[in-house]
This record gives sequence, structure tokens and C-alpha cells, in this order.
Amino acid sequence: MSFNGHTVSFLLIFSFIILLHAMIIRIRPFTIKSEDKHYLSYSRDSSLNFTELATKYGYQSQEHQVVTEDGYLLKVFRVSQGRNCDGRRRSPPVILMHGLLQSSDSWLDAGPGAALAYLISDACYDLWVANCRGNYYSRRHLKLAPNSSQFWHFSIDEIGFYDVPATIDYVLNYTGAEKVNYIGYSQGAGTFFVMCSERPGYCDKVNVLIALAPATRQINTKSILFRFLTDAILRLEHLLTKYGMYEIFAKGSISQEFLAFFCELNWITEMICNSGQSILDAYHPNSVAEHTARSMFGHFPAGTSVHNMARYGQSMISEDFGKFNYGVDNMRVYGSEDPPLYNLSAVSVPVVIIYGKNDRLVDTKDVEWLAKRLPNVVESFLVEDPYWNHLDVTYSRYTSISVFPKVNEHLLRYSFEDTR
Ligand SMILES: *[C@@H]1O[C@H](CO)[C@@H](O)[C@H](O)[C@H]1NC(C)=O
Ligand SMILES: *[C@@H]1O[C@H](CO)[C@@H](O)[C@H](O)[C@H]1NC(C)=O
Ligand SMILES: *[C@@H]1O[C@H](CO)[C@@H](O)[C@H](O)[C@H]1NC(C)=O
Ligand SMILES: *[C@@H]1O[C@H](CO)[C@@H](O)[C@H](O)[C@H]1NC(C)=O
Repeated sequence: MSFNGHTVSFLLIFSFIILLHAMIIRIRPFTIKSEDKHYLSYSRDSSLNFTELATKYGYQSQEHQVVTEDGYLLKVFRVSQGRNCDGRRRSPPVILMHGLLQSSDSWLDAGPGAALAYLISDACYDLWVANCRGNYYSRRHLKLAPNSSQFWHFSIDEIGFYDVPATIDYVLNYTGAEKVNYIGYSQGAGTFFVMCSERPGYCDKVNVLIALAPATRQINTKSILFRFLTDAILRLEHLLTKYGMYEIFAKGSISQEFLAFFCELNWITEMICNSGQSILDAYHPNSVAEHTARSMFGHFPAGTSVHNMARYGQSMISEDFGKFNYGVDNMRVYGSEDPPLYNLSAVSVPVVIIYGKNDRLVDTKDVEWLAKRLPNVVESFLVEDPYWNHLDVTYSRYTSISVFPKVNEHLLRYSFEDTR
């Protein structure tokens, strides 16, 4: 598709208005009741939660709660029984971790036959679909209220340090397995590397990491919109938090409700939303099915902290993969002028990397930079489809041919049929 100048300016302005809505207009998060959504002709799937979606399509799902060492309450869903598995189940458990501004539900939006959570369950793996702190399933804490500044003082640094290990420990303890197999997408892979660097021994609780478009250093990211967005938030972080804005792009916030409504209104707005996706990432003809586009904006964006978004602003300009850069405060926080770098040599686990040629959020150059630094890469697989982009990993209708066979090949290697 070729955009003329007017379309591009229009879409940029449109995106900017959505950003302003989210940031400037501080309306208390509100949620349109699902019966009202029905009258507004929202797609049914967009307002269903993980359990409801999985059940609707013939899968059995359980809800679990993980408590992190620093008190966050994270929701984890286990697809306990895939379709046609008749009690058969592969061990060990597989953990699936979403990317920035997503939730567990992002792994279902493409529907049976395409969404990775369904494909993995159809192959009878014991699938645990995680949620990191700050999204709508993990917006709770033992002591801190989600309207307090302390609750939102986190970025990938804390997600990797606390959430990933806590989720792994929970699944190991609950299932009695010795190790898990882990699939991390984008931020979900980056935070895994943070864990390996900062929590010695944790890497050894995992047989294999399958890193889908892993986000670490992102200096080559091409998406102008993502750069603009994260750079703006990085610059505005102090101002925003000063005025009590700690959370951003939350579900139920005006920006998300507006997107969910707007993207389903009619074919024109649907087309605009699809182009919006192409501008955020890259154009891939027909990759996202209409029913997926209608469902996904009920679950995306799922919310995170302003601090985490600011962290991405730093990833765009840093030559390395390190901790949050506090500038003059680094000395006080870290005892050094520069923020410490993450130790990628500590990622001892076998890593399979799967990435796309047309990914404008996590560029192939940065993935190759990462791969060179990981000591145990068993395979680095560039998806053949020349249009394969970042968001395709969760939303494409082609995952069953582009990505899943490779995922399955490596999972199988570390799995056995559980006859219990
Ligand atoms: C999902 O929906 C079901 C049925 O409405 C409800 O029982 C469950 O508590 C919901 N789960 C979450 C995590 O919101
Ligand atoms: C946060 O919410 C609680 C109740 O949920 C309320 O009592 C408290 O005043 C709120 N604090 C702030 C700073 O808004
Ligand atoms: C491990 O699981 C048991 C029951 O399954 C539970 O009582 C115990 O608290 C769990 N331990 C941890 C550290 O989660
Ligand atoms: C990084 O990790 C490797 C492997 O665990 C270790 O040998 C090395 O000393 C670590 N480097 C630093 C700077 O901590």
C-alpha cells in the first residue's frame, strides 16, 4: 500500500490525539458495561476475558495468582486441556509471556487455528499464559494501591527481576516439574534476559527459551510513531508523574475505549485502524484477519507504567542493553555514573530466536546484535515471509505456517508425553 502525504499526516495527527487523550485528559478509568457494548455492536470477543474466550472455543482454562517478592499480584492462566487432547498432556509446562502493552488475551485474539495459545494447546502442551505487573490482570498489590506512585515505579528492570522468576517458581511448585519451557515475545523475551543477568540460578530452571522478536537494545527501530511516542514520554516523565499520571494506555482509559469503539464502527474506521497498525509497525497485506482486528482492541493496549514507556524511549537511543538511565541520579541509585549493563553472557539457557524481516519495532540488526552476545543460541530463525512484522507474532492469521512449526520443533525436543 502506498500512503500519500495527506494520509500520513492525518494518521499521525490521529495518533497524537489518542496520545493526548490518554495523557492529558485525566478521566478516571471507566469501563463501558458489556451489555452496552453489545448495543454499540462491539465484537463479542473483544469484551471477553481469557477464561471466557478459551471456554468459548472449547478449551479448559484455570486462573492462578502469583505473588511476587515485592508484593504484586499477577494473574496467570493455565490452559489445562486443549481441544482433542483427551487427557493427553505434554510435560514440562510451557510459559508464554506477552509483549509491551499486551496481556495474556493477546495470545487468543487471532482465534483458534491462528492464535499461538490455541496452537500450542492443540499440540497438548501444558500451557501457562502469564501477565506482567501493570496490565489489567496484574494491577493489584498486597499493600500498594494502584493509584499510588510507588505502584507504578517499575519498568522492564523490575518485571525481569521479580515477575518472571515468580511466575516460573509458581508454575514449578504447582506442577511439581523440575524445569519449564519458556516462550517470550518482545518485552517478554527482554525481561527474561534481565532475569538471567540479575538472578543467578534462575536461567537453570528453564530448558529452552524461545525468543520471539526479542526486545533488548532497540537503536535500529524504524517505527517513527513508536520512537516519537516513547521519546515524548521519556521527556515528559517528570512532568506527568508530578501531576499524578503514573499509568498509561490502560484498558478502560478513554484512549483504549475510544480505539475499541472507533476500530469497529464501520469499514472506513476499520481501514484506518489497520493502517494505524501498519504505521506503528509495518504493512503486511491481509495478515490480520477482520475478526482479529475487531477483537484485539478490546484487549490492547492493556496498560503499563509511564516509567516503563520512558524506558523504551531510552532503548531507542542506547547502544547497549542496560538498566534505567537516571542521568545525574545514577550515582545515587547505582553507585556509578552510567547505568549498569545487563550481562547477556549469563543467559546460559539454550535460546531459539525467531524474528521477522519486516519488523519495524524490533529491527533485525538489533536481534543479530543480541544473538552475537548470547552464549547459547541453538537456532536463529528468520521467518521466510518477507512481510513478517512485529505484531504478526500475536495477531497474524499466518502464525500456524510462519512461526508455530519452529516453536513446536524446539518445544518437542524438550517435552515428553505425561501419562498421569
Ligand atoms: C473472567 O470471566 C469469568 C466469567 O465471567 C469470571 O468468573 C472470572 O472471574 C473472570 N476472570 C478474570 C481474571 O477477570
Ligand atoms: C486511592 O484509592 C483509595 C481507595 O481505593 C482511596 O482511599 C485513596 O484516597 C486514593 N488515594 C489517592 C492518592 O488518590
Ligand atoms: C507450593 O505449593 C503448595 C501447594 O501446592 C503451597 O502450599 C505452597 O505455598 C507453595 N509454595 C510456594 C513457594 O508458592
Ligand atoms: C557475566 O556472566 C558470566 C557467566 O555467568 C560470568 O562469567 C561473568 O563474570 C559475568 N560478568 C560480569 C561483568 O558480571
